Amino acid sequence: MASCRICSADVQPFLDLGRQPLSDAFRLPDDTSPEFTFDLVVGSCDSCRMVQLLHEVPRERMFRADYPFSTSTSARMSAHFRATADQFLRETLHGGDAFIIEVGCNDGTMLESIAAAGVRHLGVDPSSDVLAAARSRGVQTEAAFFEASTAKDIAAEHGLADVVYAANTICHIPYLDSVFEGLDHLLKPDGVFVFEDPYLGDVVAKTSFDQIYDEHFFLFSARSVQTAASVFGFELVDVERLGVHGGEVRYTVARSGARPPSVAVADLVAEEAARDLHAPATLDAFAAAVAANRDALVGLLRLLKQEGRTVVGYGATAKSATVTNYCGIDRDLVTFVCDTTPEKQGRVTPGAHIPVRPPEAFADPYPDYALLFAWNHADEIMAKESRFRDAGGRWIRYVPIVHVD
Ligand code: TMP
Repeated sequence: MASCRICSADVQPFLDLGRQPLSDAFRLPDDTSPEFTFDLVVGSCDSCRMVQLLHEVPRERMFRADYPFSTSTSARMSAHFRATADQFLRETLHGGDAFIIEVGCNDGTMLESIAAAGVRHLGVDPSSDVLAAARSRGVQTEAAFFEASTAKDIAAEHGLADVVYAANTICHIPYLDSVFEGLDHLLKPDGVFVFEDPYLGDVVAKTSFDQIYDEHFFLFSARSVQTAASVFGFELVDVERLGVHGGEVRYTVARSGARPPSVAVADLVAEEAARDLHAPATLDAFAAAVAANRDALVGLLRLLKQEGRTVVGYGATAKSATVTNYCGIDRDLVTFVCDTTPEKQGRVTPGAHIPVRPPEAFADPYPDYALLFAWNHADEIMAKESRFRDAGGRWIRYVPIVHVD
């Protein structure tokens, strides 16, 4: 039995997604070296209800120098982060000594606007290639994993921060105790820790099991973040539902007693209780829905294959590693996946080894069906690829249920 990374109580497994590769380990097609795999099993803590993986992948394996993900590939996400930066500049970062740190700053999409406004900032990320892109945007960077020692060093060199912000990063960090210890050293007395990550409530409501993969160690809820913050001497003071990435929550955490919690916190905690979000029966029902979703998707792809239809994947997302490897979808069912990321093109997907091609390959010629792995970018992609439908193509989606449109 695994122990909870927050409170050390037992973690009960409720969903086994089988052996999985690293979700961002795209290989060259002729690479025959053994592929690292691990058991992707999700559980819920008996005591604090934090949903978490039972097996941790060493961070150095996942977040390498050549981490192949760039925030700026999505126009919608770029707009989201520009709006986030504007909000910080408007509401929080006032005065000459204002200072913001972004943990997991990736290519600097958010901090670019902060840098342009002349506000003190620092982007921290372990992956050096994306940091080079951040620096080219005028962003100050530091190549490091964020933990207590990093935070102490930053505080000693740059002083205390008004805001520590992180998007799609904190759920990647199993050692939250060390993160909070670092925040204690780094935040001003009334400073805030603001982070946004996929929301358990949306994952369960949409059966979006592909939000579960090596890098997503935690699947947060208002209740579990509230408890975790209090364990580490902090307090959840605000929550905001976000429509990006298939449904996220932005959590604002402050030192205990430093700021009054907003009504939104009590409301979301109450909503989670009303729908029994953390109840074992709810999580078991989610696991059953995941298995049914897999069977429906594989059934559809096999049928299309029998009928001689062509199917191509759209978006070689980290999420798609869970889908392809859990469902057993290989290049026999999905000929290739197109993706805008140059570092993924010419390689094969983790585990399933489906070739990744540039987006131009999509129309050359159009397939009969496109399996939308990047479903969280559906509006942006469907608008961009409107000619596919005009040419008679159909999109296959599997969130919240398998459907063709
Ligand atoms: P994400 O779901 O983690 O943001 O990953 C999105 C992936 O999809 C990333 O590899 C880039 C790719 N992508 C495209 O290929 N075309 C697009 O239009 C968008 C928005 C993303």
